Amino acid sequence: MANKGAIAGEGSKSRTASIDETIGHDASILSAQLQVLFERLFSPHAKKSLRRFTSGEVAKLLGVTDSYVRHLATQEDAVTSEKTANGRRTFSLEEINAIRQHLGRTKPAYLPGRREGDHLQVIAVTNFKGGSGKTTSAIHLAQFLALRGYRVLALDLDPQASMSAMLGFQPEFDVGENQTLYGAIRYDDEARDVREIVCKTYFPGLDLIPGNLELHEFEHDTPRALADSERADSGLFFMRVGNALAQLEQDYDVVVIDCRRPLAS
Ligand SMILES: Nc1ncnc2c1ncn2[C@@H]1O[C@H](COP(=O)(O)OP(=O)(O)O)[C@@H](O)[C@H]1O
Ligand SMILES: [Mg+2]
Repeated sequence: MANKGAIAGEGSKSRTASIDETIGHDASILSAQLQVLFERLFSPHAKKSLRRFTSGEVAKLLGVTDSYVRHLATQEDAVTSEKTANGRRTFSLEEINAIRQHLGRTKPAYLPGRREGDHLQVIAVTNFKGGSGKTTSAIHLAQFLALRGYRVLALDLDPQASMSAMLGFQPEFDVGENQTLYGAIRYDDEARDVREIVCKTYFPGLDLIPGNLELHEFEHDTPRALADSERADSGLFFMRVGNALAQLEQDYDVVVIDCRRPLAS
């Protein structure tokens, strides 16, 4: 079976096409089975949600005392919270960000984000080895920064898309054609504005450009684009991700990129 695709000479084209068709057919069966499994495990409306935070946790996030947070919650109209059955106050991340805004009116240090002259920070998490904690580090870093009130964009550049899955987007079902960064860096007329590709996640302040297998296409397209002199002015291949992110310069404070493991050399 392994040699089937390597048959050379006359007729190899049609044999390859039929192998492609077989693989395509198998892939769609597998995809349908995954969908069935997924629907059995999760309700169709299942959505991730971020938990609420205690006043002590809010105090730590803001760098103030627990009693001051509780004082704000009872005294300030701009500060909302919920009370649990045992009378403890809890806050959503949106509510914590509202406290930041409230405190920032008199003390700008409470407002996170870029200061005059700061540019968008781009952090790529990479390593030559698979299974070494890249995605785990990238996602924790992105969530940590969003908890601190920064506007964060998570960019999933791994076709396996585990970062997207952890942020609630199943690459098989929730991410369609042209909905990964490939849509914004591709060379042909199908290229889209990167802003159309960004998705909101369940985590306030943390947006995502999801990944899926489509990201592989860029590696196949690039040699063709390099060989085509008419397209030589369409942007050097190694600058296309940076050029796409430049479009988002004003919308975020930090971009965290989860990279795929480089292909073995
Ligand atoms: N600090 C850590 N301690 C223990 N296990 C970890 C740690 N970081 C990641 N892992 C586990 O290691 C495995 C691979 O991590 P992952 O982030 O997916 O790696 P990569 O993205 O480099 O392939 C996962 O099962 C993950 O839960
Ligand atoms: Mg990974």
